[in-house]
Amino acid sequence: MVAGNNLFYPIVGFASCVAFLYMSFGDLWADFGDHSEQIGSFVERNGTHFMVDGRVFYVNGWNSYWLMDDSVNEYSKYRVKAMLQAGAKMGLTVCRTWAFNDGDYNALQISPGQFDEKVFRALDHVIAEAKQQGVRLLLALVNNLQAYGGKTQYVKWAWEEGLGLTSSNDSFFYDPSIRRYFKHYLKTILTRKNSLTGIEYRDDPTIFGWELINEPRCVTDASGNTLQDWIQEMSTFLKAIDRKHLLTVGLEGFYGPKSPKRLTENPEWWASDLGTDFIRNSMLPTIDFASVHIYPDHWTHVQDLEYKLKFVSTWMQSHIEDGDKELMKPIMFTEFGLSSENKGFDPAQRDRFYKIVFDIIYKSAKEKGSGAGSFAWQFFVGGMEDHNDEFGIVPWQRPSTYKLITEQSCRLARIQGVIPLQTQYLKQLCSH
Ligand SMILES: *[C@@H]1O[C@H](CO)[C@@H](O)[C@H](O)[C@H]1NC(C)=O
Ligand SMILES: *[C@@H]1O[C@H](CO)[C@@H](O)[C@H](O)[C@H]1NC(C)=O
Repeated sequence: MVAGNNLFYPIVGFASCVAFLYMSFGDLWADFGDHSEQIGSFVERNGTHFMVDGRVFYVNGWNSYWLMDDSVNEYSKYRVKAMLQAGAKMGLTVCRTWAFNDGDYNALQISPGQFDEKVFRALDHVIAEAKQQGVRLLLALVNNLQAYGGKTQYVKWAWEEGLGLTSSNDSFFYDPSIRRYFKHYLKTILTRKNSLTGIEYRDDPTIFGWELINEPRCVTDASGNTLQDWIQEMSTFLKAIDRKHLLTVGLEGFYGPKSPKRLTENPEWWASDLGTDFIRNSMLPTIDFASVHIYPDHWTHVQDLEYKLKFVSTWMQSHIEDGDKELMKPIMFTEFGLSSENKGFDPAQRDRFYKIVFDIIYKSAKEKGSGAGSFAWQFFVGGMEDHNDEFGIVPWQRPSTYKLITEQSCRLARIQGVIPLQTQYLKQLCSH
């Protein structure tokens, strides 16, 4: 037996497990019938929980960053529906994806304030398709990294227009001209009227929530004040336009100098010098839930898998405790991945990693804790290997992985009840 595997997961005979699922779902389905419905309500928050239609909502989610990009061209557009439908069939309820592409190939924002209508229609399509499939979207609004433009592109634009203060990438956070660019971008996205549904993005409950920036770091100000100020300004601005949607920062989850007692939870010493601070940043009243990533391979030099898996467990528990005791907000693990480039990598290791993440979320949910959901990085459909990195999978290509994911959908549904949109798929998945 694998050490740690049975920490949170009582071993139950398979047959009795199936019987239990069948019984509990049997009752629930009687309430809802079979008809499929479209997403009609916003996800809200009550303390450490997400709520939909007055019921607690835990997320089994995933990342497919490429939906808008692949929606632009006819030859790849089918992948959007294929992925969202496959996710829905796995009982997944939220997909995290990019709602930005700044100056890169197929750019949404071509230059500051200039948008490509063709690409906006591609994003309209992603949202309309998600609505069709009953999957909500967590939409990220800019990248700290260079992929799809990111803060580097904004700094370059300001420089080219003769407005930029410096060429430092971190001037994205403090240069007044760049802040204006980004606010203009926010306003344009939030008030975009979907060409297919006629609904403005800010009024569309298909959107689970917004993420300000993917994995922000501001290493030129390790005190954290610069990033904190930016988060405060942008979140306030966003909330003034859109009060209906939930908002998160997009943090990796590192603790900074304002959280001295937590510094030992960081993977290594450098993590406290990145200008980010999980507790301080997530504490702002304009931030509705906290985001955390989990990359044991990239964050530690220790090669030992058992060491990494132990880190995953303490990292998650530490943040859930922050949610329960300090932040009083839901905690979402919005990216987790195990690298296939590790020496001696075997997909069974990824299964173990996924299982630890799922078990901790399930345990927190069962205890009504703040651990509100997890999003694997990252899923594809077949034939798009060019989009992959060392973390991606086509989830149905490995039955054991597929089973882990779908079982998480089933057991979360057992706690929260089956949301009507899921009825059809969960019936197939969970009662065999
Ligand atoms: C919100 O949470 C509180 C405390 O857990 C609970 O008493 C209250 O009923 C909840 N409100 C709603 C609308 O569910
Ligand atoms: C900004 O970031 C890009 C991409 O990481 C890098 O190539 C460039 O050198 C950086 N610019 C400065 C001034 O540090």
